[in-house]
Amino acid sequence: MNWDNLAFVVFPYISLTTFTVGHAYRYVADPFHWNSKSSEILEKDRLKYASVLFHYGIVFTFLGHFAGLLVPQSFLTSLSITPAIHMRIALVSGMLFGLLALVGAGLLLWRRLSQPRVFRHSSANDLATLGLVALVIALGTYNVFFAHCDVLDTVAPWIRSILLLSPHPGLIATVPLTYKLHIVAALALLGFSPFSRLIHIWSVPVPYLFRSPVVFRQRRAR
Ligand code: HEM
Repeated sequence: MNWDNLAFVVFPYISLTTFTVGHAYRYVADPFHWNSKSSEILEKDRLKYASVLFHYGIVFTFLGHFAGLLVPQSFLTSLSITPAIHMRIALVSGMLFGLLALVGAGLLLWRRLSQPRVFRHSSANDLATLGLVALVIALGTYNVFFAHCDVLDTVAPWIRSILLLSPHPGLIATVPLTYKLHIVAALALLGFSPFSRLIHIWSVPVPYLFRSPVVFRQRRAR
């Protein structure tokens, strides 16, 4: 077995299985540790900028990957989104949200390492999580700015071939090395995520959009 098969056939299945089973297992078996392990109580001033920048960047980047890589181009063409328009949208949004996520992740990492109280309460797992997240984002942002490659005919069909259980590693044989490193680092992050605070990615606070902002009980005169 060559390196491409190991990295782009075997590793994706190990990583995706660990991701799916791991998150489901943690949800069922470990509900009292299902949280984002907020460090707001230790330091707030830097967190409020870093975390907001990071989360806007990463959530929209996630949605962009989902729409851009998993939805087949034939469906998008039926909605009048041609491959050229698709690539343009992917590039511009990737640059904007990738940069937001990168700056946010850099600030979060700097905060964790430079704030003594936050650092003292950071486990090796916290640092590894943030470091791996920052690495994946840095490689992805580098690619979108400097190493353009036609992902619609390479990476996108390869990902769909993995999900359809009919892997074609040959599809990404010619993509630049930095794309391959981004993919392998992202797969490592997916596989590691159930063992970290990243379980909180499922807890999107949708009800917050619809509930009344503050619930006060009216004070009645005696
Ligand atoms: C809509 C979905 C999400 C929500 C509601 C959310 C919410 C939160 C909250 C409340 C925190 C704690 C911040 C604090 O310390 O007070 C946090 C931290 C964190 N989140 Fe998310 N998150 C979401 C999605 C994601 C995604 C997709 C990722 C990346 C893959 C991510 C990565 C992180 C990381 C690495 C931290 C730790 C930051 C630090 O070093 O303190 N989050 N998130």
